Amino acid sequence: MYNAAARPQGARARLLRWYARHGRDLPWRRTREPYRVLVSEVMLQQTPVARVLPAYERFLGRFPTLAALRRARLGDVLVAWGGLGYPRRARDLHRVARSVRSLPRDPAALDLLPGIGRYTASAVACFTWGAPVAFADTNIRRVLGRVVLGRTATEREAIAIDADLMARRRADTWHHALMDLGATICVSRAPRCDRCPLFDPCVAKGRDAAPAVRRQAAFATSDRRVRGAIMRTLRERGPLAVDQLLARVADARAPRLLEALRSEGLLVVRRGRAALP
Ligand code: ADE
Repeated sequence: MYNAAARPQGARARLLRWYARHGRDLPWRRTREPYRVLVSEVMLQQTPVARVLPAYERFLGRFPTLAALRRARLGDVLVAWGGLGYPRRARDLHRVARSVRSLPRDPAALDLLPGIGRYTASAVACFTWGAPVAFADTNIRRVLGRVVLGRTATEREAIAIDADLMARRRADTWHHALMDLGATICVSRAPRCDRCPLFDPCVAKGRDAAPAVRRQAAFATSDRRVRGAIMRTLRERGPLAVDQLLARVADARAPRLLEALRSEGLLVVRRGRAALP
């Protein structure tokens, strides 16, 4: 059996104690309102905490409830999303708001909603009503994997370990603690093992080879940049003749990506003019 699992209470108690002293005070951890938690998890999926903080407050200031989001035009939702990137996430949140009156408690039912995968469904259930569900993001995979396997775990492995070790009655605090340990101590390249509450039971003890810096394919990155430029131009300038929009973006990929954004429902083209939907 796993090393840490041999004395799970010890490891659990140490981690929870560490979190009580060193955990991050983040706004989405001060609420159990499902909508607010969902917005935070969707934003945090692909964006670092520091960039999410202002966007989260701005978005919720504009759309404080699921009902407010439901009533909004998608274009206004995309404006409030701003430069956070991956605007499909905003479109999906808007679709969620239009498909249910209130968010279900059950992770399996949450999982069926647009754009919500297993991870988000589990995280929302855990952080809103304390559901003892196992789940793992990148930080949790790294922490649990290093402690138990001596290397970063796959999502599947991490979920199995999490199910074994989790503090079931404090599942929310447990997962916050794992995330924070991964973000501040058990970091990818230079882990601060001297300050780690799980050093004793840890298999890796700092020996986990830092993964090489992974780069997105240059092509994918610049597609994303050009998509971002198209969306930003429409947010800032409002409806615009397609020719003018393409001239402003000035990139050979722009016509193809404009079409892709249109087919994803992120912009509309009417009589030669492009606009947010
Ligand atoms: N707190 C709750 N969910 C979080 C996440 N996904 N990343 C960082 N902190 C969080």
